[in-house]
Amino acid sequence: MSYEYLDKLKRRLAAEDRQLNLYIRTYGCQQNVSDSERIAGMLKEAGYNYITEPEDADLIIFNTCAVREHAENKVYGHIGNLKHVKEKKPGAIIAIGGCMVHQKQVAEEIKARFPYVDILFSTNAIKELPDLIAERLEKKGIYDTTQTERAEIEEDFPVVREKAYRAFIPIMYGCDNFCTYCIVPYVRGRERSRDPEMIEKEFREAVVAGHREIMLLGQNVNSYGKHLDGDMNFSKLLARLAATEGDYMIRFMTSHPKDASDELFRTIAENPRISRHIHLPVQSGSTKILKAMNRSYTAEQYIELIERARKIIPEVTFSSDIIVGFPGETEEDFEQTIELVKKVRYQSLFTFIYSKRSGTIAAKMDDPTPHKVKTERFARLLRVQDEIASEFDTVYVGNTYRCLVTGVNDNGITEARMDNNAVVELDRAVPENTFANIHITRSEHHRLFGEVRD
Ligand code: SAH
Ligand code: SF4
Ligand code: F3S
Repeated sequence: MSYEYLDKLKRRLAAEDRQLNLYIRTYGCQQNVSDSERIAGMLKEAGYNYITEPEDADLIIFNTCAVREHAENKVYGHIGNLKHVKEKKPGAIIAIGGCMVHQKQVAEEIKARFPYVDILFSTNAIKELPDLIAERLEKKGIYDTTQTERAEIEEDFPVVREKAYRAFIPIMYGCDNFCTYCIVPYVRGRERSRDPEMIEKEFREAVVAGHREIMLLGQNVNSYGKHLDGDMNFSKLLARLAATEGDYMIRFMTSHPKDASDELFRTIAENPRISRHIHLPVQSGSTKILKAMNRSYTAEQYIELIERARKIIPEVTFSSDIIVGFPGETEEDFEQTIELVKKVRYQSLFTFIYSKRSGTIAAKMDDPTPHKVKTERFARLLRVQDEIASEFDTVYVGNTYRCLVTGVNDNGITEARMDNNAVVELDRAVPENTFANIHITRSEHHRLFGEVRD
């Protein structure tokens, strides 16, 4: 592969008297992790040395997230800290990309508050980044490519995968759903499906490279193919990929309930290489709130969907995202969320307190509920989920599951993950990126312990 778009930066770096170091910090979801893997791939190929601490870096890249205020504040704090890095090393280049900088007011604020930032780059055009860096190495100034809409999907990247056991493969970009609380459609643009041939090519390469877990990514994976010519949808894509020979499993995220079909559940049931775990965010258990969120399903329809999935794939498990304290959520609405969680019994739950995002429809809605009430509701929801999770843990003990070994944790213990993503600490070391049969021996405060069986 020639990667001609890297030529300018390659020549520029070859003219330096030493190899320059690159540091990337990634915030937010897997989509950003995947983008960072491509950015790292390009810049390594161009000649940068990829390092994991910012201090010795000649190029510092932040790939940012805008989904909640907290995420943004963290990034502002970290950009603030870079002032010292830049003072110590005035030649270092700082580049900020990701979802945050696609908001015009944020881009302006970064330029005003942090004049030592050199580059703001577009999430939808990361191939432009190498040229921007080459230009900045030539000449000081602020380079900003974030405020132009770009719809074309970029292909042909060298990729540095973050983990040996996992390959992220984007299948679609952007989102058309405009859930009223969510900033993603504004910062990631309209939904675009990647060409199936390109996906299949990257998929086969990942299988050949030996990644045991292949995760298909998108904000709404199960609406894949909507704008493509020909007879293509997510189920068909899945079936086509799962026919590839090899020892691996397929995961995907995120699915939207409105696009989850029986065809999809049947495809999963028929293909043992596809994980039996589905992340299917419900967001709320109140039909009134779901309507205000523009989620296009009722609580009843969601529960029926879960029941249909369980009929078609008896061993299926679910996880979900829930927003607590959406504008206008009453005690009764919240109790309906608790009821739904108890009914569905999620294997795991990702819970968030509503965060107002400027530019979204919900930002203009009345929000009379005090923050204290929202935090109390949040704690109640966590307690309910905690109890459900404990019951799951007791079911696992005494059973043996096929798990994927994901590496060694900070305490030196080898860990593996079950099909439903639960983490198990193992009694002995096993090489990362291998499948192993693990007998769960005990559980303790949501930690699972297991023995490796042959
Ligand atoms: N496309 C995915 C992921 C979106 S972001 C999906 O539809 O599920 C991940 C999660 O963040 C969302 O599911 C939602 O629960 C949460 N989220 C998004 N915007 C939020 C906001 N303004 N405040 C709080 N949580 C939010
Ligand atoms: Fe945001 Fe909704 Fe799109 Fe998910 S489906 S990215 S929550 S607008
Ligand atoms: Fe955050 Fe952008 Fe992902 S806003 S959650 S990094 S799509």
